[in-house]
Amino acid sequence: MMEGTKDPVEAGGSASAPSAAGPGPTGRAARSAQRRALAGRYALLPLRLFLGVTFVYAGLDKLADSHYLAGKSDPLSFYAQTVAAKGGSPIGWALEPALHAPTVFGLLIAFGELAVGLGTLFGLIGRVAALGGALLSLTLFLTISWNVSPYYLGNDLPYLLAWTALLLAGTPYLSVDGYLARRAERDRERGLTEEAVRRRTVLDSGIAAVALGGGGLLAGSLTATFVRRKPKPAGTPSPAQGGAKVSVAVADVPVGGSATVKDPSSGDAVYIVQPTAGQYCGLSSICTHAGCTVDPPKNGQLSCPCHGSRFDAGTGAVLNGPAVKPLPKYTVTKDGDRLDLGAVQS
Ligand code: FES
Repeated sequence: MMEGTKDPVEAGGSASAPSAAGPGPTGRAARSAQRRALAGRYALLPLRLFLGVTFVYAGLDKLADSHYLAGKSDPLSFYAQTVAAKGGSPIGWALEPALHAPTVFGLLIAFGELAVGLGTLFGLIGRVAALGGALLSLTLFLTISWNVSPYYLGNDLPYLLAWTALLLAGTPYLSVDGYLARRAERDRERGLTEEAVRRRTVLDSGIAAVALGGGGLLAGSLTATFVRRKPKPAGTPSPAQGGAKVSVAVADVPVGGSATVKDPSSGDAVYIVQPTAGQYCGLSSICTHAGCTVDPPKNGQLSCPCHGSRFDAGTGAVLNGPAVKPLPKYTVTKDGDRLDLGAVQS
């Protein structure tokens, strides 16, 4: 059915009123048909809300993360994640520009997610928003999720297919697109030419897009300015130990918390943790499932954001798959008020 045209459901059942009004089997059948039509019409609404909220959240979360745009020196940055993804990706060559201008591309992705999410939630130029979401998900599938095995554990492929459904259906109901389509229908009925109707629709879509884009830009900028999380204290080389070793102040590693240092030989991030008072060790931040960076310890566990593996913060052991191998563990020795990173134990 075309957007903006009245069907029996939209018209409150008036098209089937003679039979719907009656109490007999025919009336029940009509009401049942109406309910099915209503369910069919809004079938994609939950998916649209989920994708919209998720992409708005993903964009704002990146902008609030102090690691995201920190650059080469931070192993949790967009740059470091791109380097890690480049090796095993079939489109690794296409990531080269992002490595030359990581701040620009990092911001483009964060604000792109925000724009896609808002466009989807408001149903403004819904197919364009869905196309943007599909392209972002395709890129993530070919980079971050590409080496995930089996393939169905990679979460970007389901996102890509979910966006495809919205790309095909658009956002004709409970949306700006729907409102403009119904208004265009009324304009035609009152005799406006097709050209005038089209011009009015395009103009108002553009105005709404600029307003929504401005709101997104403002929300993103405010988030980056005022909500940005404080970075975890990073380890600094101990001057007394020369270049190869790294250490952190004991005070930087609270019980249950961590400080991040870099393995001098691999360049990978290592969390120095204190799972129980006075007990220290180092755990690699590289997930043994498919190489994503696991989050710092929380509630005695390290979680991988890619496919949900969880590791024990005291031993690195797998608590929950799909990873099967523990996180590599490093010795850590206490030297006065410093903690020195030692060799890999496992
Ligand atoms: S990379 Fe898959 S769970 Fe970590």
